[in-house]
Amino acid sequence: MKTYENLKTVIENGICTITINRPDKMNALNRQTIEEIWEAVKEANGDESVFSIIITGEGPKAFAAGADIKEFLGLTKEQGMKMAKAGHDVFFSIESSPKPVIAAVNGFALGGGCELAMACHLRVASENARFGQPEVNLGLIPGYGGTQRLIKYVGRSKGLELMMTAEMLNAQQALELGLVNYVVPQDTLLAKCKEILEVIKTKSPFAIGAAIRAANAYDGTMKGYEAELTEFGKCFASEEIKEGINAFLEKRKAKF
Ligand code: COA
Repeated sequence: MKTYENLKTVIENGICTITINRPDKMNALNRQTIEEIWEAVKEANGDESVFSIIITGEGPKAFAAGADIKEFLGLTKEQGMKMAKAGHDVFFSIESSPKPVIAAVNGFALGGGCELAMACHLRVASENARFGQPEVNLGLIPGYGGTQRLIKYVGRSKGLELMMTAEMLNAQQALELGLVNYVVPQDTLLAKCKEILEVIKTKSPFAIGAAIRAANAYDGTMKGYEAELTEFGKCFASEEIKEGINAFLEKRKAKF
């Protein structure tokens, strides 16, 4: 992979691990880091040797403590909207990645960091992880999809409470609210993500991508069901369903 200024990337056993590497700034997401995440996810998705992606933060303290607050200084309304649009585009690219993306949340996931974690398909948190949308402290609101995704995960009532009080959730609270999939000791965080991905690796990649697309279409209307219908149908046109069904009938494990 390319060399990035604010990211470390490594591909091992088909898993591309992208580590935000600004630990002295709590891995705050400045413009360049956001652009680099977009580029690295695109690169990983275009690499045939990669079947999944883990996003994490360098060091024991922070996944990402938000957008880089210094870059907010002096922005106009139009520049603010442009900044949010750039964040939306990057986080949509993660959410719509056909390869599974897990956030390994190793500490503070605040503001844009929480929004980044929420754009990933799954979240595994270390015991010291903290989640929150503290933007109102700055006179702001979440701008990288947080007002929408937080409500999808924890519901409108709790989501609005978190956005209006700026209170942080600890890892256990995030687990109870359904914001994270697992909470594990910090030294086993990446191992847990890899364990989940090893299971996913044995399944049909086409079907995994289809499940992601259908789930992303969920909006509480018929649109989601229509997407499911289309994606279900498309599975029948892939080669992988033949292998999956034949393997079942032949009483063996499918090889995708
Ligand atoms: N943007 C820019 N810099 C940030 C940052 C952010 N979102 N979060 C942390 N940093 C920087 C701090 O300014 C400090 O830099 P310095 O050493 O040059 O002064 C460094 O990271 C370490 O942070 P510090 O606040 O000293 O660490 P802490 O352990 O006392 O507190 C946090 C950790 C995460 C609770 C605290 O940094 C914080 O509240 N950050 C902002 C969170 C936020 O509001 N995010 C939403 C942004 S929209």
